[in-house]
Amino acid sequence: MRISHVTKYYGDFKALDDVSLDIHRGEVVAVIGASGSGKSTLCRTVNRLETVSAGSVVIDGVPLPEEGRELARLRADVGMVFQAFNLFPHRSVLDNITLAPTRVRKVPVPHAQQRARELLERVGLADQAAKRPAQLSGGQQQRVAIARALAMDPKVMLFDEPTSALDPEMITEVLDVIQDLATSGMTMLVVTHEMGFARSVADRVVFMDAGQVVEEAEPASFFSSPRTERARAFLSTVLSH
Ligand SMILES: Nc1ncnc2c1ncn2[C@@H]1O[C@H](COP(=O)(O)OP(=O)(O)OP(=O)(O)O)[C@@H](O)[C@H]1O
Ligand SMILES: [Mg+2]
Repeated sequence: MRISHVTKYYGDFKALDDVSLDIHRGEVVAVIGASGSGKSTLCRTVNRLETVSAGSVVIDGVPLPEEGRELARLRADVGMVFQAFNLFPHRSVLDNITLAPTRVRKVPVPHAQQRARELLERVGLADQAAKRPAQLSGGQQQRVAIARALAMDPKVMLFDEPTSALDPEMITEVLDVIQDLATSGMTMLVVTHEMGFARSVADRVVFMDAGQVVEEAEPASFFSSPRTERARAFLSTVLSH
């Protein structure tokens, strides 16, 4: 995935300022930065939930169009997992996972259900298929959301602070699933406040500030010796507790 010179304005406010970022196949990139630095906006523009003011996003050599039928098809290549799980409350866990593949991809229902059960197994929820989301814990709901995104066979997965709405004891079970995906070779962009996770799982850390990518480095060198003053200041606040 190649993000080239993406700028995004909300009115007069520049939320993304000439952001360029390449994510190679199988690579895990962690995006960190202070609140308001543009991390969610970056995820949303990559998935075209927001239009861009300038720049382009190219996946597997194919530019994402601004709108239309082709966008809907290409958008399915990008799986997105948000802080809020956004599951359909009145549908079973299984239905939540099969809905998009059957409706958007026209996968036959038995086939989609078989795949959904495999994915539930993978995220450790094989026995929860018949439940409604409200009958699950937050960590379990987030794992359903991950299974739902994977059901579309995305080329890239975007995670926007997938654990920040969770109680501490549930964070690990979700991070374990994401780590497992990383190990399996999934290409991923993960916005996270979990510095330990970024350090151990990511191939690369991207630090954002004021809508810009300020620093990009391997986790070990970023966390031990950030190059910029802004990154040093950020790390000293998040690592101090
Ligand atoms: N729809 C919108 N309209 C106007 N401004 C917006 C909109 N969405 C985001 N912004 C602004 O853009 C900036 C970047 O927001 P964004 O949500 O990308 O930050 P973030 O890095 O994800 O922060 P956090 O860590 O709190 O999630 C913020 O100043 C925010 O107020
Ligand atoms: Mg955000």
